[in-house]
Amino acid sequence: MANKKSKHDYLTRARKEKNDEFYTQYSHIEEEIISYLDYDKDVFKDKTILLPCDDPEWSNFTKFFAQNFERFGIKKLISTSYAHERKHIEEPYQLTLFESESPKFDKSKTKTHGKIFTLDSDTNKSGRIDINDLKWDYLKGDGDFRSDEVKKLRNEADIIITNPPFSLFREFLAWIMEAKKQFLIIGSINCITYKEVFPLIKDNTVWLGNGMGRWISGFIVPKGYELYGSEAKIDKEGNRIVATNSCLWLTNLEHGKRHQPLQLMTYKDNLKYSKHKDIKENGYPEYDNYNAIDVSFTDSIPSDYKGIMGVPVTFLDKYNPDQFRIVGLGNGAELFGPSKIYENPVMHKNGKTSNGNAINRVLVYRTTEDSKVYYTADNVDYPLFAPYARILIEFKEENDENVA
Ligand SMILES: C[S@@+](CC[C@H](N)C(=O)[O-])C[C@H]1O[C@@H](n2cnc3c(N)ncnc32)[C@H](O)[C@@H]1O
Repeated sequence: MANKKSKHDYLTRARKEKNDEFYTQYSHIEEEIISYLDYDKDVFKDKTILLPCDDPEWSNFTKFFAQNFERFGIKKLISTSYAHERKHIEEPYQLTLFESESPKFDKSKTKTHGKIFTLDSDTNKSGRIDINDLKWDYLKGDGDFRSDEVKKLRNEADIIITNPPFSLFREFLAWIMEAKKQFLIIGSINCITYKEVFPLIKDNTVWLGNGMGRWISGFIVPKGYELYGSEAKIDKEGNRIVATNSCLWLTNLEHGKRHQPLQLMTYKDNLKYSKHKDIKENGYPEYDNYNAIDVSFTDSIPSDYKGIMGVPVTFLDKYNPDQFRIVGLGNGAELFGPSKIYENPVMHKNGKTSNGNAINRVLVYRTTEDSKVYYTADNVDYPLFAPYARILIEFKEENDENVA
C-alpha cells in the first residue's frame, strides 16, 4: 500500500512541478497500436495522423508511425515538438546531428522554436515511404499545442496520438474534444476521476484503450529526474526508465477488448467460492448514503445482481458498454447524489481524530471501530468506512436502448 501511494505521489508531484519529460517506450506504443489494427486493419488507412507534444528527432511515436507508414496506409504523418527553452529541464541543451548538419539549421531558432516533421511522400526516391523521407522545419512559434499554428495542424488531422504533458492533461483532452477528433493518448489512472474526463467515459464518448497499469511499465526520463520504482532501471541503450505502473491509454478509437463480456459468478457463488477472503467473509456491504452495494474487486461483481454496484475505478479496464451501464462516480457528491448528510463528521485514524467532512463527498458503509480509519457523526450511532474511489454501475437489460 505504501508503495502504491508513493507511486501516486511521484506522478502527482511530477504534474505539479510540471516535470513533463516522460518519454514513451517503443514496445508500449507497438503493443497498444496492434490492438486497434487487430480490430480494424484499416484504422489508419488514408488518415492524417498528428503526433503533437513530441520530440520527433528521437521520439518513439514518430519512429513507430514513420516506420509503419506504408504498412498502415497512412496518408500523412505530422509530428511537432515543444521548444527546448519552454521545457522544465535541467540538462544542457543537446543539439542533434540531424539538426546541426541540416541546411535548415538556424542557431537563432534551435532553442526557442518548436519543430515540425512531416511524412507524406518518397522524398529520397528509394521506392518506399519511410522514416528517411521525413521533412522538417522550425515552427513559427514554440510548438505549444494551444498555439494557432498547432491548432491548424490539429484541425487538419484525422487522428491525434501522443503522451501529452501530465501537467496539462485536462487542457489537452479538451483541445482534442473541441475539434471532435479521433485520438489515442496516455494519462494517469487518476484521470478517470477528473470532472473533465469522467462524464465523457460515462457517456461512452471516450474509453480506456487496451493497456493500463503494468502494461505501460515505465517511461524514459532525462538525467535530472529521480529514478523511481522497484523496476526503475537504466536499459541497454542507457535510457533512464522510471516505473510508474499507474498510467492508461485513453481513446475514442474502437478496439475489441471493450466488447468482450466479463465472465462472472452469481451472488451466492461469490459468497461461497470467491478467491477473495473479504468477499467470502463479509459479502457485499450496502452503502449508508446511497442505494447500492460495495463490490471491492471487479472479478467479484455478482452476475445476477439487479441493483447499482460501486466498483473500483480499475473496473474500466474490463468495462464492456454492451454489458454494463455507468451510473455515477462515488468521489464527488455532485457525481452520485448522497442520500444522507452527516452532521459534524469526525475522522478517526490511528487513535487520533480530525475533521471528517470528506465523508459527505464520497460513498460510505458501516464498519466497526477496529478499522484503522473510520468516521463518526452526530446523526448516526455507528462508525463508517469510506472505500477508495468507486464507479457506480449496473447491468444492462437485454433489450436496453443506448447500447454502445
Ligand atoms: C510526457 S512527454 C511525452 C513526449 C512524447 N510524446 C513521448 O511520448 O515520448 C510530454 C511532452 O510535451 C511537452 N510539452 C509540455 N508543455 C507543452 C505544451 N504546452 N505544448 C506542447 N508540448 C508541450 C513536454 O516538453 C514533453 O516533451
